[in-house]
Amino acid sequence: MCPYWRLLFRARFSYGPFIMFEHLPQYAGDPIFGLNDAFHQNAHPQKINLTIGLYYDDAGRIPVLPSVAAVERRLVDDPSPRVYLPMEGLAPYRSAVQKVVFGADSQVVAQGKVATIQTLGGTGALKVGADFLKTAYPDSEVWISDPAWDNHHAIFGGAGFQTRSYPYYDPATKGLAFDAMMSCLRGLPSRAIVLLHPCCHNPTGVDLSREQWGEVIAVLQERGLIPFLDIAYQGMGDGMEEDAYAVRAMAQAGLTVLVANSFSKNLSVYGERCGGLSVVCGSSTEADLVLGQLKAVVRRIYSSAPWHGGHVVSGVLNDAALHGQWLEEVAAMRVRMAQTRTLVHEQLSVKLPGYDADYFIRQRGMFTYSGLLHEQLLALRERHGVYIIDSGRIAVPGLNTHNVGHFTDALADVIGESAR
Ligand code: LMR
Repeated sequence: MCPYWRLLFRARFSYGPFIMFEHLPQYAGDPIFGLNDAFHQNAHPQKINLTIGLYYDDAGRIPVLPSVAAVERRLVDDPSPRVYLPMEGLAPYRSAVQKVVFGADSQVVAQGKVATIQTLGGTGALKVGADFLKTAYPDSEVWISDPAWDNHHAIFGGAGFQTRSYPYYDPATKGLAFDAMMSCLRGLPSRAIVLLHPCCHNPTGVDLSREQWGEVIAVLQERGLIPFLDIAYQGMGDGMEEDAYAVRAMAQAGLTVLVANSFSKNLSVYGERCGGLSVVCGSSTEADLVLGQLKAVVRRIYSSAPWHGGHVVSGVLNDAALHGQWLEEVAAMRVRMAQTRTLVHEQLSVKLPGYDADYFIRQRGMFTYSGLLHEQLLALRERHGVYIIDSGRIAVPGLNTHNVGHFTDALADVIGESAR
């Protein structure tokens, strides 16, 4: 029976509520959140969760940063009414975003050329940016790295854009396919939107060098492209300032650039949904106009950003002592991840001689791209309780000094088996 007749038949002969949505497809689930859920169902005694971009400490706990806890205590001791924030978010939060992302001495910020709003995490920033761009450049296409963080295609596709992929990762070297990437960018039409990760590329952990950024910037300028930078892991690669290099270089080069930033990871406030969207404009007048458009987008999606997360982040970033403390807390996370990478590398060179595990120490940030095959990933899950998403992306912070031995044993088992 065709769906239309089936609906009519059900409506006529059933007594329950009218069935309106049965024609919709089943949601396939999210490749990251779905496997994270599956991990929590698994009863394996040594299971390891390497699915999702969450930072865990060496004891396997998601930390509440002491700097964040200090602000939360103040908010409890001296409570304020939970009013609606303005559509653009909390003013001191927005200026803190600008300092973190563009630097305390940024010229474009001083000149009033940056329109910044508080957003619902980095994902919310991408969504507001996507809707804004769809109004300004409805016919542009959005170019996303291959491989991509899956949600990039979903967010821009959901905003009505045609999304496409540019080459980024070379499986043969487990490094950057820079020449292929550049030749693709050189062929893009003016006003094409190019999504880039300034640091800690998700999913590969493969980043551009400063020289390579210089070449990308030149092409963006020559072709009149619109860069949209997604910086969700600032501080997790080489340092808070170092990781923002590409953002600042583009702003300094005079490019119009959108920047989505997130505090989920570097402040460990995932569920508070704290991020920012900044648009670097050609003048302060244009920035005012853009700010108005961003507010209009926010109003029609969710009206305003959360009060609590906004005050927590603003409280840490605008207090000199807490800000300094926070930088140390981020450094500790970064150092632990780098040490873990080294540990894996050392153990694999003993347990899997001949296997090139250098990518573990070459790739940066929270993720490493393993190139593990589908059957190896299944064997890791089923035999060893080691959960890695289907692309082979490993979330490094799920590893620690207590479970790294089990992880490298498991890898040696499945990789060794494929080699036999
Ligand atoms: C990830 O990539 O694992 C994180 O950014 C979480 C998410 O939203 O996908």
